[in-house]
Amino acid sequence: MSLTRRHFVVSTSRQISKLAGAAALLGSSGVLPALAQTTSTESKSSELSPDERARETEHKMTDDERFSLIVSLIGAVPSVGVPRDRRIPEGVNMSAGYTPGIPRLGVPALQSSDASMGVTNPGYRPDDKGATAFPASIAVGSSFNPQLAREGGAAIGREARIRGFNIMLAGGINLARDVRNGRNFEYYSEDPWVSAVLAAEAVNGIQGEGVISTLKHYTLNCNETNRHWLDAIIDPAAHRESDLLAFQIAIERSQPGSIMSGYNKINGEYASGNHHLLNEVLKDAWGYRGYVMSDWGAVPAWEYALKGLDQESGIQMDVRQWGSEAFTDRLRTAYAEGKLPKERLSDMVRRILRSAYAVAIDKWGPAPAVDMAKHSEIALEIARQGIVLLKNDGALPLATDRPLKIGVVGGYAQLGVPTGTGSGAVLPAGGYAGTVNIGGAHGAMGAVRNLYLLRSSPMAEVKKLLPQAQIEFDGGYTPAESALLARRSDVVIAFGIRVEGEAFDLPELSLPWGQDAVIDAVATANPNTIVVLETGNPVSMPWRDKVKAIVQAWYPGQAGGQAIAEVLTGKVNPSGRLPITFPQNLAQTPRPELPGIETPWGTPTTIRYDEGAEVGYRWYAQKNTKPLYAFGHGLSYTTFSYSDLKVSGGDTITATFTVTNTGKTAGADVPQVYLTEAPGERRMRLLGFERVELAPGESRTVTISADPRLLARFDGAASQWRITDGVHAVALGKSANEQVLTGSANLTGRHFGR
Ligand code: BGC
Repeated sequence: MSLTRRHFVVSTSRQISKLAGAAALLGSSGVLPALAQTTSTESKSSELSPDERARETEHKMTDDERFSLIVSLIGAVPSVGVPRDRRIPEGVNMSAGYTPGIPRLGVPALQSSDASMGVTNPGYRPDDKGATAFPASIAVGSSFNPQLAREGGAAIGREARIRGFNIMLAGGINLARDVRNGRNFEYYSEDPWVSAVLAAEAVNGIQGEGVISTLKHYTLNCNETNRHWLDAIIDPAAHRESDLLAFQIAIERSQPGSIMSGYNKINGEYASGNHHLLNEVLKDAWGYRGYVMSDWGAVPAWEYALKGLDQESGIQMDVRQWGSEAFTDRLRTAYAEGKLPKERLSDMVRRILRSAYAVAIDKWGPAPAVDMAKHSEIALEIARQGIVLLKNDGALPLATDRPLKIGVVGGYAQLGVPTGTGSGAVLPAGGYAGTVNIGGAHGAMGAVRNLYLLRSSPMAEVKKLLPQAQIEFDGGYTPAESALLARRSDVVIAFGIRVEGEAFDLPELSLPWGQDAVIDAVATANPNTIVVLETGNPVSMPWRDKVKAIVQAWYPGQAGGQAIAEVLTGKVNPSGRLPITFPQNLAQTPRPELPGIETPWGTPTTIRYDEGAEVGYRWYAQKNTKPLYAFGHGLSYTTFSYSDLKVSGGDTITATFTVTNTGKTAGADVPQVYLTEAPGERRMRLLGFERVELAPGESRTVTISADPRLLARFDGAASQWRITDGVHAVALGKSANEQVLTGSANLTGRHFGR
């Protein structure tokens, strides 16, 4: 009897978890009809929507229980000097955030872990055997493949589940406004649509496994310089058309359980206490039903509870940053004095419970089986599809008809591939191939600013695929030494790497440690040089005209060396496209000088995002300048043609066209549809894209219908989107700069949405 009962409950829970994941996608109307038929004991609560359940539970809570739910504690991290907090009970798996559960009401403890590229462990859990280190989010961005983003998310969700983490601090979605931003590798793109579509699928993947995901960092946390003291100034309407639009669309498409507020100020108000952005935009205009958690150390004042913040994260970090916790004693005092209304406290709690119920973290059955080999395959596939072939003068793929003498230079390619650094760095199973502390003056983050090498040596992988080749390695130690190897090689593969990460912006675009000089010397010695870049951002490439091919591999994750080798040898046909514009130099970008970069950490800094909504390729189009490599650019070993473009208008733009693989190799293309002109103004907007895999000679018809907000301006006075009546010009392109076919259509002028 007990066995049958247990078995019954387990399978029911699994079912619930899946169904509730789906319900979360549907929002509050996603009632779970199937659940009502499952068990009689669960039937009552299952008939209720997550909102109703949250209200019911919250109603039964004591104030102590309410207050316990609106804070989280960071676990012990010796590397950055965070001691164990006695409020975390013995036996709890250490993580970024812990909130006790309320067993009498069936509310589970909340436990969160970073991040978008896998389950991290900066030292919380000495016994943790390591997680899958996925490629950087910007590589997911380059894949332009939402399905792959979802698979990666699901794998991360499963790896969180087996560790007992029911919240993933994943979903970094800040727009890449500045090519010096140290955290761009954690974000998807400079474009709101690409960012939203990919981030949403990553969140859907995670939440489909019964783990809450966040979208972060709301909003405009687009530079790391003095991030706790950084005031990001932007025109509010332009903000709606750019960073906020990315959040808005991603929220609609994935219903993330939580939104994490950023460290910075926006137009003078801290993100975590920004009444306009949290209450008026997120919760009111967009109707967001989940909860807002702060970033760690982003809450100087208890009053932020009145301004829309629902949970204070890692409260010990606020003690470090601001001298005290905000949502414990101080908020309780405010409550006792009647300054925090009971309704607001209840709302904070209900939002947290609502997300818990919507994603069904209270209904976990046994942890899912985790197939680490399968997850490594997913990481490999993301790396393959995320690699972008920037330039190819016929040097790639490497010849396989004769044994080549290959000189491999630099980038620790004999050991592995680098990752980004900071809270998003994932300790892989088996540990790193190497770790070197870079250090740095910025807060505690210098202690964990490391060059991490993942154990996937591109050199060893090339050797596997070209067993006949003679491969010699040179560390890229000096230009002269590297040139010696270059001279005696048929072909040189030179690696360029850079450590980028949290709390550090890059002052300029070059590669560190004299690597540009090494690459230059190598290319001078042997023009048959291929450069592989493993960076989180564009770099300047002063040697660009001297080399035959350039491959942008980003931080390609734990199987990255294999993916690089497969692209170099032609086993994989590159299909990544740039999700961020590569400028010729900083003078071309909206801010040639980065405010605050020269000041000590902690200096109040104002950064004006005067480009407004004209981020990335939109900026270059407006200024009519050509970048080094355009947004959307990426070469292939085959060729594609576009034909039969038909554009229709009305409420939105719909473009239908045919893509044909005109070469001899199977490959994937990413045709892109852009708005290029609206009535009376030149306006560049990516309206849609699709990744299309085609065999040689194969054709496919693609239809892309634009989200009308991409065709609209945000009308601040009306607080609505506005489409101007009249002709809108459209281009079908291979990149923002390479428009192949053009068309136009009439749109009906109107106001809509919020
Ligand atoms: C980062 C967040 C992260 C948090 C928790 C912060 O430093 O900005 O992205 O989720 O730490 O580790």
